[in-house]
Amino acid sequence: MALISGALGVPAALYLLLPAKSSRKEEWTEVGDLAQISQKTPEEVVFRRKRKDGWKILNEKTSAWIRRISDKEAVAFAPSCTHLGCAYHWEDKSNTFVCPCHTSAFSPEGKVLMGPAPRSLDQYEVKIDGGKILLGRVIQSGENT
Ligand code: FES
Repeated sequence: MALISGALGVPAALYLLLPAKSSRKEEWTEVGDLAQISQKTPEEVVFRRKRKDGWKILNEKTSAWIRRISDKEAVAFAPSCTHLGCAYHWEDKSNTFVCPCHTSAFSPEGKVLMGPAPRSLDQYEVKIDGGKILLGRVIQSGENT
C-alpha cells in the first residue's frame, strides 16, 4: 500500500510544488523596416510568427498596426478590437482607428474615443534593432485610462 501511495503521491506532489512551465513563451519576430513606415499614418503589417504554447510550437499568420513615433521608436497595436475581437482599420479622414462591427473608435495612441470597446487597443512589445522592427508578445491594455 505504501508503494502504491508513493508511486501516485510523488508525481502529484511534484505537479503541485514545481513552478508551472511558462505557458506562452514568445519569440521576437522581425516584421519590416521602420523607415518604410510612414510617420503620418499607421500601417498594417501582416506577418508569420512562431509562438511556443506549452509543448506546442505554433506558426501563425497575424498582423499589427504600426505607428512610427520617431526614427528610433514605434508602437504596434494588436489587430483585434477590444470589444469582441473584430478587425478594425485606420481611417485617414477622421484620424482614428474604427471598428466596423459596433463602431468603436480609437485614437492614434490606441485610446478609446467611442465605445462600446471597454479598453484601449492591446499592444505588442516592440524593439527597434538596426532599423528593423521586432515584435514580441501582446500586452493586454488595462482599463481605458
Ligand atoms: S467588436 Fe469592435 S466595437 Fe464591437
